[in-house]
Amino acid sequence: MITLALSKGRIFDETLPLLAAAGIEVTEDPDKSRKLILATTRPDVRVVLVRASDVPTYVQYGGADLGVTGLDVLLEGGGQGLYQPLDLQIAACRLSVAVRADYDYASAVKQGSRLTVATKYVNLSRNFFASKGVHVDLIKLYGSMELAPLTGLADAIVDLVSTGNTLKANHLVEVERIMDISARLVVNQAALKLKQAPIRRILDAFASALPQS
Ligand code: ATP
Ligand code: PRP
Repeated sequence: MITLALSKGRIFDETLPLLAAAGIEVTEDPDKSRKLILATTRPDVRVVLVRASDVPTYVQYGGADLGVTGLDVLLEGGGQGLYQPLDLQIAACRLSVAVRADYDYASAVKQGSRLTVATKYVNLSRNFFASKGVHVDLIKLYGSMELAPLTGLADAIVDLVSTGNTLKANHLVEVERIMDISARLVVNQAALKLKQAPIRRILDAFASALPQS
């Protein structure tokens, strides 16, 4: 049995075409049931639904053989011991710094002010601001980062941006682009050895379904 860990939502939705290229169709709709283990048209392949930030943990400890997870999750601290063979080029977005439209970020940085930054990505943010020589106090949040500058909780946020609609709707502006993000295939190292042939078939099918980069 090959177990693939996915998170509900964009990762699940955007992985389906890649699975189709590997001849695998998920036979249950995660939005219509509370099931966490989903069967596929291949009796030897199943999908488990976990939280996005738990995908690397499931794969690392063998709860799943393979998984699809954002580069943001891997770099923030979830990538240890995982084989990361493919950039799947899905769930594309960027990690950025944003502030209220009326906040002068450039001047604050220039003057060497200490910034309060709210984010789910404390490790990535610490490294980014340290590399710029900007002093920051980090506040860890688990979601709705955009609210922090609006309520006075923070001067800035570090969050994912795709269309920019969420920032716009909350009168925030993007002031720095930290890095581009996309989803990666991650593989358990032991599974890669023990289940080499079926995993290799899935990897090859995914790779050939990707646009050439
Ligand atoms: P958790 O439930 O663990 O808090 P989450 O709610 O952030 O995770 P999703 O919103 O499904 O989970 O995001 C999963 C991944 O999709 C992220 O790790 C990121 O790589 C990518 N992603 C997040 N937001 C966007 C977006 N707006 N556009 C494109 N990709 C995104
Ligand atoms: C992500 C991110 C932003 C939004 C950006 O949230 O945290 O809030 O997407 O996308 P946009 O630039 O296209 O508006 P998501 O939709 O995943 O919600 P959640 O993380 O709060 O579940």
